[in-house]
Amino acid sequence: MENTRKVLINQARKAKKNAYSPYSKFKVGAALKTSNGKIYSGCNVENISYGLSNCAERTAVFKAVSEGIKKIDSIAISSSGKKPAFPCGACRQVLVEFNPNMTVYIDGLDETFKISELLIHSFDKKQLKY
Ligand code: THU
Repeated sequence: MENTRKVLINQARKAKKNAYSPYSKFKVGAALKTSNGKIYSGCNVENISYGLSNCAERTAVFKAVSEGIKKIDSIAISSSGKKPAFPCGACRQVLVEFNPNMTVYIDGLDETFKISELLIHSFDKKQLKY
């Protein structure tokens, strides 16, 4: 368990180096572990049309899902800010889709979190019934 944290934080730090963030100058890296033990990482990718920018967490998730992954066990996030950064609201909703029980590690914080506690009352399948 503790080893998973270390491995994922290291991979997230590595991915952070590839951040394409010439506008905000804020670098983020994420690394996730799937239920079959594979690791996927991602960085934030900005665009001159600012609203098109993609967060590191979603880059990592979309890479994994496009390779056939359906369940993510844990994710680590590392950012270049002075304070540890949590995933944004949009990324939380994307993460909860692939396992509400997902463990979230934040570089610089000892505490671990569950995605469902970071996003309470998330929009889910039950609400689609009409
Ligand atoms: N960013 C992420 O990559 N993840 C987050 O959870 C929050 C924000 C990125 C988006 C943008 O490129 C930069 O950080 C500043 O908002």
